[in-house]
Amino acid sequence: MTLPGSTLVRPTIADPIAAMGGGPLTEEGLRRHIHPLFSRVLRREEIYLANHSLGRPLDATADDLQLAMDLWYEQMDGAWAGWMDAIQRFRALQAALIGCARADAVVPRVSAGQGLRAALNALPQPRPTVVATRGEFDSIDHILKTYARQGRADIRWLEPDGRGLFSAEAAIAALRPGTDLLVLSMVYFATGQLVEGLPEIVAAARRAGSMVLLDCYHAAGAIPMTGPLAFDALAPDFAIGGNYKYTRGGPGAGWLAIHPRHLTPDPLPPLFTLDTGWFAKRGVFEFRRPDQPELAAGGDAWLEATPAVLTSFQALAGLELTLGLGVDRLRAYSLEQQSRLAHQLAARGVPVLDFEPHGAFLLVPSSDFQALCDRIRSRGVNVDARPSTAGPERSTERSGFVRVCPDILTTDAEISLAAARIAEAFESL
Ligand SMILES: Cc1ncc(COP(=O)(O)O)c(C=O)c1O
Repeated sequence: MTLPGSTLVRPTIADPIAAMGGGPLTEEGLRRHIHPLFSRVLRREEIYLANHSLGRPLDATADDLQLAMDLWYEQMDGAWAGWMDAIQRFRALQAALIGCARADAVVPRVSAGQGLRAALNALPQPRPTVVATRGEFDSIDHILKTYARQGRADIRWLEPDGRGLFSAEAAIAALRPGTDLLVLSMVYFATGQLVEGLPEIVAAARRAGSMVLLDCYHAAGAIPMTGPLAFDALAPDFAIGGNYKYTRGGPGAGWLAIHPRHLTPDPLPPLFTLDTGWFAKRGVFEFRRPDQPELAAGGDAWLEATPAVLTSFQALAGLELTLGLGVDRLRAYSLEQQSRLAHQLAARGVPVLDFEPHGAFLLVPSSDFQALCDRIRSRGVNVDARPSTAGPERSTERSGFVRVCPDILTTDAEISLAAARIAEAFESL
C-alpha cells in the first residue's frame, strides 16, 4: 500500500497470497509464503493459542500506522485525504468480510459495545424492550444492564440450556409481542457455539416486529459470512464486531453495520441514532447549521464526530490478509487443526467439549479453569480462560473453560507440543 506523499511503501500482501496458489491451505505453503509476513511477532518464544482473544499482527500493520503518521508529519492538514481514504478502505474491506454489498452500510466504531449503543440509541421507543441471551460478551451484557438500570430499556434475558447453549427455537420463543430488539451472537464467546437457524431467528423476529442485533465478533473472519450467512442475506437490522481477534487489527477498530433497508435518505432516514456528530451531517464541510439536523446519505448518516484515523490503518493489513486467503479456506484449515488438537488432547486424557457447530476455538472444561490456564501458560503455551455463562448453579464440570485456538501461524509440531503441555498441566491440578 502507498499513500500520496508518503515516503514508505509497504510490500503488498496480495503477492505472497497469490504465490501460494489456490486450493486448500497447507502448512508448507503458509510457512513459505505467509509466515514471513509475521517476522516480528514470530520472534516470540511461546506457543500462541490465544488467537481467539488477540490476533497476531502482520509486520505490515506497523508499516501502515507509520504511513498514517508520515502523512501527518509531511502534509499536516493535507493528510486528511489519505486518512479518509484509509477509513473508506476499512469500511469496504469490513463490508466485504461480512457479506455486505454496501461499504457505506458499515461504520467505524471504537468497540462493538459502542456499536450496540448506537443501535439502542436509534430505536424509536424511549424505553425499548430488549431480549438478550445470557451468553453475550461482558461488554454487551454490561451495557444492556446499564440501560436497564437507568430506565432506558427493559431487558428480558434468555437463559441457556443445561449445556450452556442457545437454540433457535428458544430464541424464537422468547420473541413475545412487544419485543423491540433481539440481541444475540453468531458465535458465543464462552462456549464457541455457532448458532444454527439464524435465518429462521431473524425472519421470526421480523414477523414479530422486533429488530435484531447480531454480535459477529467471533464470526467475522472465522466463519464464512457468505450465502445465507452473508449480512445482506441474513438481514439482521444491525451487526457489530471488531478486529482485534481473527482479523489481526488490534483494539479500536470496531464496526457497526446497519442493514441497507434502514438507509433510505431524505429528509431524514426512518432510523437514525443519537450517537452522531458533524461527520454524519449532509455536506460536512459546508458548515450549514439548519435547525433540523440534515443527515448525510446512506450509511454515512451513522458516522459520528471527527473520526479516529489510526484504527482504520491498523486494521487494513489483517483484513487484506483474511480476505485474500479467503475465510472459507481459513475455516477449513482451522477445523482441521482443531480436530488434530482435540484428538491429541483426548488421547492424553484431557476432556474437550464438543459443541457442534462451533467457531475457531476449542474448550477444555475445568472447575479450576483459571488455575489450569495459569499452569498451561507457565509451560509456554499461551491460552486464556473464561467462566461459563451458564451460571454458577450449573454442574461444576462446566464452571469454566480454557479456550484454545490454533491459527495459520501454528505449526503441527506446536499442536503436538501444546497437547503434551496441556495434558501435563491438567494432570498437575
Ligand atoms: C462476542 C464478543 N463481543 C464483543 C467483544 C468485545 O466488545 P467491545 O468491543 O465492546 O469491548 C468481544 C471480545 O472478546 C466478544 O467476544
